[in-house]
Amino acid sequence: MSFNRKVRNEKWKIKFAKISSRPLRKSFADFAVKFISLFAFFVIISLYSCDKNDTPGPQKHNPTPYEIEIPYGFPTQLNIPEDNPMTVEGVELGRYLFYDGRMSGRTHPDSLMSCATCHIQENSFECGVDHPEYEGGFTHGITGKPTPHVMLPLVNLVWNDHGYLWNGIISEDNPDPHYQNIESLVWMGIVAEHEMNSDTNRAKEVIQNIPGYPELFEKAFGSSKVTVKNMSRAIAQFIRTFISANSKFDKYLRGEVQLSPSELNGFVLFTTEEGADCFHCHGGSGNPLFTTNLFYNNGKDTIFNDPRDRYAITGDPQDHGAYKATTLRNIELTGPYMHDGRFETLDDVLDFYDHQLLWSPYIDPLMHHINDGGVQLTQNEREDLKAFIRTLRDEEFLANPDFGPPEKFPDEL
Ligand code: HEC
Ligand code: HEC
Repeated sequence: MSFNRKVRNEKWKIKFAKISSRPLRKSFADFAVKFISLFAFFVIISLYSCDKNDTPGPQKHNPTPYEIEIPYGFPTQLNIPEDNPMTVEGVELGRYLFYDGRMSGRTHPDSLMSCATCHIQENSFECGVDHPEYEGGFTHGITGKPTPHVMLPLVNLVWNDHGYLWNGIISEDNPDPHYQNIESLVWMGIVAEHEMNSDTNRAKEVIQNIPGYPELFEKAFGSSKVTVKNMSRAIAQFIRTFISANSKFDKYLRGEVQLSPSELNGFVLFTTEEGADCFHCHGGSGNPLFTTNLFYNNGKDTIFNDPRDRYAITGDPQDHGAYKATTLRNIELTGPYMHDGRFETLDDVLDFYDHQLLWSPYIDPLMHHINDGGVQLTQNEREDLKAFIRTLRDEEFLANPDFGPPEKFPDEL
């Protein structure tokens, strides 16, 4: 080390001696040339970077961030993947695609299908029992094949980070990147036989060729080339804006309205263990989502052989017959009930929790009243409980024009 340093010092001395022995005028000329060329270099570099950053042009991609406002009392943690930040342009594009029947990769008027064919806003983005798509309790895809489970509403999904679908297969914990978030439901909806029964290449080609769409993709994602990834990102962004936080109960929590005595009593029953004991799984004033987004076996059966229950995902025997405890917001509108649609009305569901529970080794420990066969309410108490559940209906959400169909599609503008 010290030897090397010594050698280097010697070399440096020699070099220095050589330079200092040059004629003075020559070294000044050298200096001037170097200075001028360095100056010119910086001028060119700064002109070039100005040109790149400041000149607006068609290539420029600068979307406007879309801010989600957290409603009063709601959790602040949102499930927005890092590679798909919310933007005004993304949400706008997603709205067109969500409602455009040509997403099915077909253009003939008889063979169109969009997400909104089944997910209808006025029914909390479910189909609704009276819909022609809903024969025999199940929605049907474009070929008439029924979906394996009944529908789920699209409400406050941006707060769910425990997995989507009845069994939670779509989750960031799933190692397969095709099954991780709301984005994944787009390719699945396009290819599923019981939904659009199409293929993603066809869908993206059809959209690419509709005038107006390429420009919207450019604005949202910086490229006019339509890709399945960007279609999925846009639709997922749109769905993440579906926020319900203005039901009668929300207004009550904010001190804006009063509940009736019956609704108030129903609220007390809902949120007490000795009452109806619903709150552990379906939320309450401390959890205004009205779901924990977790999975439970709520005591409907004794034999479990559905290949799509929670057990199919986790392999944990405790998950036999377990499904997502869905949100109770707008629940009046989203029958038939349970993953298999076995209960037609809300009264049927309340009968079940009241006195029809079935014991099995897999029943969730939170079903505290299993030994009595249910929560055993009086007729009046059941009416009160129902009255409370009805306060979770959010008319503003169901009619919010921002979530509804666009007046015109991009090729009609
Ligand atoms: C044929 C009717 C139908 C169509 C069309 C359809 N869906 Fe669905 N959707 C369903 C059903 C049924 C479920 C519940 C499936 C399950 O969990 O087994 C569902 C569930 C979902 C969920 C999960 C909700 C949750 O809480 O976990 C999302 C998100 C979703 N769909 C988005 C879409 C998107 C996006 C499209 C369009 C690309 C679409 N759906 C098209 C019937 C449909
Ligand atoms: C141990 C957790 C748990 C408790 C306690 C519980 N539920 Fe549920 N609830 C669930 C699960 C899980 C589902 C979905 C089950 C399925 O689809 O098979 C569900 C489904 C429902 C549904 C149908 C949802 C739909 O979209 O189809 C309603 C309505 C409902 N519960 C109301 C209540 C009420 C009212 C109470 C209190 C009397 C209650 N629940 C207590 C876990 C629970």
